[in-house]
Amino acid sequence: MQDQIIIFDTTLRDGDQASGYTMRFQDKIRLAPVLRDLGVNIIEAGFPISSPGDFNAVHQISKDIGNGVTICGLARALGEDIERAAKALEPARKPRIHTFISTSPLHMEMKLRKSPEEVMESAIESVEKARQYVDDVEFSLEDFGRTEKEFAVCMIIEAVKAGAATINLPDTVGVFHPFEAYEKIKWVISQVRSHGYDAIFSVHNHNDLGMATANTIAGIMAGCRQAEVTMNAIGERAGNASLEEVVAIIHFKQLGKTTVNTKHIYPTSELVAQYTRHTPQPNKAIVGKNAFAHEAGIHQHGQIMDARSYEILDPEDFGAESILTFGPRSGRNALKSRYAQLGITFSDEEFQETAKHFTEIADQVISVDDADLIRAIRKGEEVPQYYRLADYHPVRTNGFGAVVHLDVGHKRIIEYNEGNGQIDAAIHAIKKAIANSIQLTDFRVEAEGPGSEAVGCTRLELQKNGWSVTGKSEHTDVVTSAIEAYIDGCNRLKY
Ligand code: KIV
Ligand code: ZN
Repeated sequence: MQDQIIIFDTTLRDGDQASGYTMRFQDKIRLAPVLRDLGVNIIEAGFPISSPGDFNAVHQISKDIGNGVTICGLARALGEDIERAAKALEPARKPRIHTFISTSPLHMEMKLRKSPEEVMESAIESVEKARQYVDDVEFSLEDFGRTEKEFAVCMIIEAVKAGAATINLPDTVGVFHPFEAYEKIKWVISQVRSHGYDAIFSVHNHNDLGMATANTIAGIMAGCRQAEVTMNAIGERAGNASLEEVVAIIHFKQLGKTTVNTKHIYPTSELVAQYTRHTPQPNKAIVGKNAFAHEAGIHQHGQIMDARSYEILDPEDFGAESILTFGPRSGRNALKSRYAQLGITFSDEEFQETAKHFTEIADQVISVDDADLIRAIRKGEEVPQYYRLADYHPVRTNGFGAVVHLDVGHKRIIEYNEGNGQIDAAIHAIKKAIANSIQLTDFRVEAEGPGSEAVGCTRLELQKNGWSVTGKSEHTDVVTSAIEAYIDGCNRLKY
């Protein structure tokens, strides 16, 4: 029987602490049931004393979903923090208070200005106080990575005696490498047990040296039964250990079992990206856009012959899908199969000619779309501008409106629409003008340049009837950049 690894999700607490990732109250409330349905065992919903918003979020989440999953609130080793956490957790059926204090020499001396004895006393008092409110108390030795191991053992024993059932061993500043994490955690656990005490040991890592996931796995191999992780690896500075990576490794390497329904991972990641306004980097394991994308010919060939050639994980197990993307190094077989999917077949001679033009095009563009495949058949011609933006006026109503003047072939069409914001209003006006059912599947606007003179760069993806194209534009006016990118995409789809 494999050991059950408890997945403690701290996306809403440590993840939310990341600079520029703060989630709004309503987003946290919407995300919590999604995390529950993902199958995590504990949701650390916030740090109630840190702000009224966090208090309300923990309270509301406890009310909404606290009859199933364990809801946890963070509290420093201070009476007032613990009271606030207990209050926020009142509606939860399985509440956990997570209290912590720094135990490394540097933090105790410079940050807390407390002696080790005083730190020990605060830890004992806070665990005992937390136990007056809830049965389930977790105690963390903040900066365990730099804590003297003999002192860690004494602290843990006292925290267990005071009533903590879970002991968390955080590498708060990401100093460990996996061998160190393994050795230190294993030694500390065995020392605690040799004194006749025990707990559920937990591992919590930050990614300052890029080793948070590896160190979490090392912690599990050293005997930890709980892993503290965040979706998309979000968290303070370089982030926390990644939920999706840790779960994938546990399953793939058969290190234990989790209750996570891995098929929910990709949709959950997308939602976290939406609420935090940050998409994972494309090459992020499991949830990055390129995690299951194959572009080089050699890889595409292997992939077509047997998906296991270049995919160690089945993307469908994670709610994702495998894709072939195209570039100058793509293989001819894969290219031919994409044409066939689009309903286009060739004689051998025609295909060789098309493939030659395709490589020339692909050498010049950053990412190839289906319109480029058609350009290759037509010997590299440019996409005709059937739709052109003639004019655009924002309209301030109670909300947002936009009037768009669009040249469609030789006809000028003027349309008005309202929307969530100026861009949304303008895009809906264009959709009305060209009356078609185009799907916008991705949309990104970024500022290029350091100051207010930056250029707004829009890149979006449009799909229709199985065809997929990219629209791009750059403009100092962000709304114009978005409208032009949308029209660019429409022209490429029309083509
Ligand atoms: O990184 C850390 O030490 C923490 C504690 C509050 C557990 O997040
Ligand atoms: Zn942390």
